Amino acid sequence: MLQIERALEHRRLNTEIKRLKGLVAEKFDFANIIARSGKMRDVLDVVTRIAKLDSTVHLQGESGTGKELIAKAIHLAGNRKDKAFVALNCAALPEALLESELFGHEKGAFTGAVKSTKGLFTQAHGGTLFLDEIGDMPLSIQSKLLRVLQERQFYPVGSELPVEVDVRVIVATNKDLQDQVEKGLFRDDLFYRIHVIPIYLPPLRERKEDMVPLVDHFLRKFSAQMKKDIKGLSPDALRKVMLHDWPGNVRELENTIEYAVAMTQKDVITNDYILQAKTTPADRWKKFGCAKPSAGVEGVSPLRDARDAFEKDYLIQVLSLTEGNVSQAAKLAGKYRADFYDLLKKHELKAEEFKKPKTE
Ligand SMILES: Nc1ncnc2c1ncn2[C@@H]1O[C@H](COP(=O)(O)OP(=O)(O)OP(=O)(O)O)[C@@H](O)[C@H]1O
Ligand SMILES: [Mg+2]
Repeated sequence: MLQIERALEHRRLNTEIKRLKGLVAEKFDFANIIARSGKMRDVLDVVTRIAKLDSTVHLQGESGTGKELIAKAIHLAGNRKDKAFVALNCAALPEALLESELFGHEKGAFTGAVKSTKGLFTQAHGGTLFLDEIGDMPLSIQSKLLRVLQERQFYPVGSELPVEVDVRVIVATNKDLQDQVEKGLFRDDLFYRIHVIPIYLPPLRERKEDMVPLVDHFLRKFSAQMKKDIKGLSPDALRKVMLHDWPGNVRELENTIEYAVAMTQKDVITNDYILQAKTTPADRWKKFGCAKPSAGVEGVSPLRDARDAFEKDYLIQVLSLTEGNVSQAAKLAGKYRADFYDLLKKHELKAEEFKKPKTE
């Protein structure tokens, strides 16, 4: 009996090891995506679950939040990873060009069409087509797109022969598409076709836990590129990063770090090189000894809300600086550990989320 029990236990452990190995491999695919905050980890969780399906994904988020990065991650984690990933910005082309770019055209279909071309749908056959800023797609092309999504076939411009394609479509918007529908600028039937798996990428200011690891990530990237040995940001510079609102999101942070790495002549980046973060509402409030107030008319909000917002920002700062070490963070804040934990609970913050992930 004992031997059988042992054998069963052995088998159970083996299966568990296999399962965990699988999980690690999946996570590893997202190695270049920083996601320490709960919000971003939820995003990656959805990505993992839907990557292998063919359902259309609708990525929503402000400019610079990582929509294209996530679109590529979905492609790479799916069954189509060995086929093409083709991207098109629908806002960048005028109507006529956009149509032939997407669906191709026959020779002589219009003046200047001296030879026939394959469109992006054909190029993406077997793979993924990423349509960025789909909210800017003209209505005439929307109906053609709807048709491809429904029937998996389309007619190149000037052609009567349908072309069949097998393409997974991922779309992205940085404005409210539902609003566009209400204004009659976007077809509602197309909206329902593409809004199958919505993924919302929160702005950087709503996931401050990601800031320090993102800074580290970009410091490493640009130090390597520029062959410099930068150790990190000075506490002052980091404070500026944490207090800034980052309207341009991760892209703005990336550019800021690139600039700082390029400019600095020391191995620590100081406050004065974090230029873009100079004029922020937070700075106006800093001289009153408080951080960023929560939203309100011209930044004015009830005192209690402002105090709460400050408290939360402050906690995020000390946790970031101590990388989630509660004892150290509590000491910095001049609080007892137990009281500090109460504060974390009040603001729904988890110390673990500030820990540096272990690298192998
Ligand atoms: N979580 C992240 N981890 C690492 N890098 C990121 C992350 N999010 C975004 N980036 C980087 O930030 C930059 C902007 O991201 P991306 O181009 O995907 O944003 P976007 O939402 O498509 O922006 P836009 O709406 O302006 O096109 C890229 O260089 C990307 O690699
Ligand atoms: Mg983009």
